[in-house]
Amino acid sequence: MFKQFADKLNNSKKIVFVTGAGISQESGIPTFRGKDGYWRKHDPMKLATIDAFYDDPKLVWEWYEDRRKNIRSAQPNAGHKAIAELEKYKDVVVLTQNIDGLHQRAGSSKVLELHGSIIRIKCTVCDYIDSIPNSFDTLPPQCKCGNTLRPDVVWFGEALPQDVWQEAIEHANSCDVMIIAGTSLVVSPANTLPLYAKQNGATLIEVNPDETIMSGDMDLSLKTTSASCLPELLPFIKNSNL
Ligand SMILES: NC(=O)c1ccc[n+]([C@@H]2O[C@H](COP(=O)([O-])OP(=O)(O)OC[C@H]3O[C@@H](n4cnc5c(N)ncnc54)[C@H](O)[C@@H]3O)[C@@H](O)[C@H]2O)c1
Ligand SMILES: [Zn+2]
Repeated sequence: MFKQFADKLNNSKKIVFVTGAGISQESGIPTFRGKDGYWRKHDPMKLATIDAFYDDPKLVWEWYEDRRKNIRSAQPNAGHKAIAELEKYKDVVVLTQNIDGLHQRAGSSKVLELHGSIIRIKCTVCDYIDSIPNSFDTLPPQCKCGNTLRPDVVWFGEALPQDVWQEAIEHANSCDVMIIAGTSLVVSPANTLPLYAKQNGATLIEVNPDETIMSGDMDLSLKTTSASCLPELLPFIKNSNL
């Protein structure tokens, strides 16, 4: 699959992965927009905006509690594991839109969470932030300051954490190969990362069973799933002399 890019992969100094919900699909976590995706059953504007949260915090919390249970019982798949394994041979950085923590659980050490984490909570008013307990007795949970707690995720209309975003751009600018796996590339600004890489001459490889709006801009577009294809990267990288 990667044969035509064997030299590029061998000689690369830094590989950046841009990942989205699709990379966790084979771990049993639904995507947003694909077949069986969440947005086929729910209206995102009623669940993933700050206005929706203030309208009905209990409903939004119930949805996140359900997702969190599913994520906690899920395991990293062969795609996550292959990316983690690559770190043994190359400088590898993961820029993920996922909030599920599966890259870290697979062993990746350089993971930038562009959209936050479902495992953390923060206060809507004060600067309290923490990891979440297994479950809450009552929803929505309250902060010690008396205000409502929310998941530490980026909702539609919200800005990305700026320090994380700046660092992500630097990595995109300085990689020689970018592998874009399991993302529809419709959510901005995460979908601009491949453009930064391309401007700097990086090779772009996409892994997605479906066509995306940027498939035509890729050097290689592999129409397959991440768990079946990413492990195939390893032989190329392992044989590299770097
Ligand atoms: N696991 C998670 O943390 C999770 C789950 C759902 C949504 N999200 C959120 O989705 C938003 C961004 O959208 P997105 O682009 O990440 O998701 P998306 O749902 O818009 O797109 C998922 C993409 O993955 C592809 N895909 C499906 N199965 C795949 C597989 N097995 N291997 C490779 N590709 C596969 C689909 O064709 C689709 O293009 C983010 O805000 C993110 O926080 C995260
Ligand atoms: Zn507070």
